[in-house]
Amino acid sequence: MSQVALLKGGRSLERQISLRSGAQVQDSLERLGHEVTAIDVGPDLVDRLEAARADVAFVALHGRGGEDGTVQELLDVLGLPYTGSGPAACIRCMDKVIAKHALRDAGIPTPDFYAFSEAAFNDLGAARALPAIEARLEFPIVVKPAAGGSALGIKFAASAADVPGALVAAFSYDTKVILERHVAGRDLAVSVLGPAGAPRALPVVEAIPRDEDFYDFEARYEIGRTTFRCPAELGDEVTARAHELALGAYRELGCYGFARVDLMLEAATGELYVLEVNAIPGLTETSLLPQAADAAGIDFDALVAEILELALARETSTAAG
Ligand SMILES: Nc1ncnc2c1ncn2[C@@H]1O[C@H](COP(=O)(O)OP(=O)(O)O)[C@@H](O)[C@H]1O
Ligand SMILES: [Mg+2]
Repeated sequence: MSQVALLKGGRSLERQISLRSGAQVQDSLERLGHEVTAIDVGPDLVDRLEAARADVAFVALHGRGGEDGTVQELLDVLGLPYTGSGPAACIRCMDKVIAKHALRDAGIPTPDFYAFSEAAFNDLGAARALPAIEARLEFPIVVKPAAGGSALGIKFAASAADVPGALVAAFSYDTKVILERHVAGRDLAVSVLGPAGAPRALPVVEAIPRDEDFYDFEARYEIGRTTFRCPAELGDEVTARAHELALGAYRELGCYGFARVDLMLEAATGELYVLEVNAIPGLTETSLLPQAADAAGIDFDALVAEILELALARETSTAAG
């Protein structure tokens, strides 16, 4: 049995979700017989980690600081093995611009996009290029911050008149924004579990929004406002393709342990597009990864046990060379 430092909370916009993920994981780790020290991460993190004398850290953080490679880098420096992806993969996943370029370069379909920094607008007059972008992407256009999460700051612009407001909203979350082609269709997620060399894709989850034309932050976390179906009702071919793209994205971005790949299935063409990869997806009992694992016969405790084993296995393989 291990001495586990459970990292949760933090100061990101997804703090509340992280606290819930952390509480579920903590209960599970204790059921599995581990000794757990829960740490709400803050400026005293290093001291608290040292006091915890942990063998391994379980990182149940989402968003900035916890999911973007910052905590991972620190844990690497401290020599403490931890769950999930390392700094490089976290950095790539957290920044949708970097992730989408990597996916596109690897031939993994992702909706067409243009990305701009605040400096492009302020210093280079990028606003003058908006009509050309609008002509290429066609309305509606999706406007989102590069480093988002939980649909925060995402707006659908139905016409040119909506674009400035959508940009302002997205820029309130990040200094870089994406204008992306809207894919009309079904919202799918494929969770991936396993070591870098042999990851496996779990059953596809479909998120079905109720009444809402957009699946937003509130819809996502208010019970009953979104229905999840797992496994999603898809033909074998689409399922196989979703698995293939998710595994491709996981490998391409260098993920380790677990991740969740969000996709859209375009209604008009039947084509799948990868929207993003979440390096640390939600781990509450009703989150998508735990639901998918459950559908594959892996209950929450078995999932937590596997994620922890992978963390320790990575340490051994690193030590071995
Ligand atoms: N290009 C797009 N076309 C259609 N829907 C989109 C598009 N981009 C995002 N969405 C919707 O917004 C949700 C959140 O977008 P996503 O890119 O996964 O960001 P995040 O989950 O990090 O906030 C998606 O699950 C989907 O419902
Ligand atoms: Mg998403």
